[in-house]
Amino acid sequence: MHPKINGDRLWGSLMTLAEVGATTGGGVCRLALSDEDRLARDLFVRWCREAGCSIRIDAVGNIFARRTGCNNTRPPVMTGSHIDSQPNGGRFDGAYGVMAGLEVLRTLDEADIVTDAPIEVVVWTNEEGTRFAPSMMGSMAFAGLLEVQQVYQITDAQGHTFGAELERTGYRGEGLGGTPIGAYFEAHIEQGPVLEEACKTIGVVIGGQGQCWYDLVLTGQDAHAGSTPMARRRDALVAAAQIIQTVNRIGSSFPPGGCATVGHLSVHPNSRNVIPGCVQLSIEIRHPDDLKRKAMDMAVRAAVREAAATGRIEAALTQVLDQPATPFDARCVAAVREAAASEGHSHMDMISGAAHDAIAIARIAPTAMIFVPCAGGISHNETESATPHDLAAGCQVLMQAMLAASTAVTPGADGFS
Ligand code: HGY
Ligand code: MN
Ligand code: MN
Repeated sequence: MHPKINGDRLWGSLMTLAEVGATTGGGVCRLALSDEDRLARDLFVRWCREAGCSIRIDAVGNIFARRTGCNNTRPPVMTGSHIDSQPNGGRFDGAYGVMAGLEVLRTLDEADIVTDAPIEVVVWTNEEGTRFAPSMMGSMAFAGLLEVQQVYQITDAQGHTFGAELERTGYRGEGLGGTPIGAYFEAHIEQGPVLEEACKTIGVVIGGQGQCWYDLVLTGQDAHAGSTPMARRRDALVAAAQIIQTVNRIGSSFPPGGCATVGHLSVHPNSRNVIPGCVQLSIEIRHPDDLKRKAMDMAVRAAVREAAATGRIEAALTQVLDQPATPFDARCVAAVREAAASEGHSHMDMISGAAHDAIAIARIAPTAMIFVPCAGGISHNETESATPHDLAAGCQVLMQAMLAASTAVTPGADGFS
């Protein structure tokens, strides 16, 4: 059997979904568990029901659309991604993996193909971690890497808890994880420049780099900008500036790979003629090699200590994520590589620079990812874009890899074995 996905239908569903939370800059803003996220979830659920799937919601709002197979005692072959976005997100980050999964369901239905193992398409809650930190919250809770009651208590900048917002949006279900997965494949735009520069259509993702996330609160003293001598100041923003420069240097000091970012900064009281007494900032570091990431972690901690001592500032550094580099399953990776080759698409092995739900799910199930290029490697930006051709190619490869996983093994086996 060699069904072909419908690239126009895939593009159409992506553009319809992109209308939910559309921003004036051509992107989307669908923060996790916002009204826009809820509307996008409702649309996904409606489409999957129309495609004949049953719907299950778990205790952290992960949505599972299930298409039965011949042998439903077997663990499902799963695909999916996220539909929550960055505040100035693009139309494809996350949404592509969910719509590609839906397109696979629709194509199998049209071709009257019933797989041996059941198929499930998943929307993972709060992959971005921008409203509620850390990222990959739904998939990590599902994988047993986060405790549910802890997750429910996490608050956003306005003090809303994750649990209350889950309740408010009507997506608080029952149960969490504990069910075996035969194989998990996730299609995603690369979000970097590698595939485009190499002129390749498909990225065969062999794993994801590790990352650490921190929250840092620097406390000095509010004081008058005009009458406080320079030597007497305890300026939290000057200390933050020193740390930001050093974090940037750390990011460039561990080649190859390795990066470091300060993405969030808030200054208090944020008044032009008051010396800032308090600054809150985020720090994140990433590296494909865990030993080098450990060295980066130590360098970050030293930079914070040094800047605090110099500025007579108190520093409270809290680590909110410590995720090791994660290799993907060789059989799933081979299925992606063989599918790309059999479909005649140029392809290359690569590591994922960005984190994805697949990195959490890889801890409990055979997992791999399929990347397609995005223009200029730009993502987490309203101008994010990808071509209908590449998106369709990635979806076709996804379907072939899923078929390989759901029919290639003898009934009763769990996934690739
Ligand atoms: O941060 C990440 O890598 C992902 O895009 N949330
Ligand atoms: Mn994503
Ligand atoms: Mn993202």
